[in-house]
Amino acid sequence: MDTRTKYLGLDVESPIIAGSCGLTNDIDNLVKLQDAGAGAVIVKSVFEEQIIYDIKRNLSMMAPTDSYGMSYEYIAAHVADDSLGQYFNFIKEAKKRLHIPVIGSINCYSFENWMTYTQRFQEAGCDGLELNMAILPYETTLSCEDVDRLFSDIINTLRKSVSIPISVKVSHNFTDMANFMQRLSWMGINGITMFNKSLNVDIDTDTMQIKHAPSLSTPEELYETLRWVAILSKKLRCDISASTGVHKPEDVVKLLLAGAGSVQVVSCLYKNGVEYMRTLNEGLRSWMAEKGFDSIQQFAGKLAVKANEQASLFFRTQFMKHFAQL
Ligand SMILES: Cc1cc2nc3c(=O)[nH]c(=O)nc-3n(C[C@H](O)[C@H](O)[C@H](O)COP(=O)(O)O)c2cc1C
Repeated sequence: MDTRTKYLGLDVESPIIAGSCGLTNDIDNLVKLQDAGAGAVIVKSVFEEQIIYDIKRNLSMMAPTDSYGMSYEYIAAHVADDSLGQYFNFIKEAKKRLHIPVIGSINCYSFENWMTYTQRFQEAGCDGLELNMAILPYETTLSCEDVDRLFSDIINTLRKSVSIPISVKVSHNFTDMANFMQRLSWMGINGITMFNKSLNVDIDTDTMQIKHAPSLSTPEELYETLRWVAILSKKLRCDISASTGVHKPEDVVKLLLAGAGSVQVVSCLYKNGVEYMRTLNEGLRSWMAEKGFDSIQQFAGKLAVKANEQASLFFRTQFMKHFAQL
């Protein structure tokens, strides 16, 4: 059974990818994921906040002196270098131990740091880079045009400065979702990861305090991913890597039928252990055997909305069929 395919233009043995998370921040886990058949691994993101935090912590440990102000820039650059250095050493080690693609991941909020950090990923030997741009439009002052400009400025500049494949990971909070994803796919990127699961907050009614909502996804979250993958897979100029809500082998099959080029998993690995990657791959292969498919290409995108089909009509028809039966 041949599960070989392409992910960001790279050859992979399986379309199932270990998504960026705490589990992929550990070399032993990466090796286990590779042994269990992961097509590629995406390491935990570098967050700009984390580097800024390291800088502030280091500065707060120093006695304030007159020369402190003058040396701030130097110290900040040194600490940032050190924090990133540890991360890139991890990537270099992963590259030594793994033969599958190792993808770096980065999440910044300032334009300058996107540029500075990204080039170093390439130097560290990453096979590709996932830009976590799951920017939620929280501010009332932020318009659609502002969000558009932010994406295009960052991507256009990064595209020119690195030659490794780039994927952009997004949330599904866009007013003009389909149109925006299409324009994004025209920006010279190799893939779009749909979707990041944003950290939700909850309220504790006893203490009347804000608390974290559960960070792992539920199986029901698959449907939102499935919907957009099916609508967009034939209409974009780059691959879709599906993420959020994949818990069972059949979820992988559904997303491939909907046109995803690859499928990322995280929560199911937290729930079942990294070895669960093997179960997902075995499940995919046994489904293919049962249906008589020898390769992924034979069924990929079979149930996607067609390139010239209007998604609104397609979904209206499904809606009418469903309600006609009630
Ligand atoms: C504990 C945890 C840590 C995560 N860390 C990152 C991260 O560093 N970078 C990132 O892009 N996504 C991160 N994610 C999001 C996942 O990559 C993924 O998009 C999300 O969990 C949805 O996929 P799932 O349904 O398979 O869990 C994290 C998720 C979890 C649960």
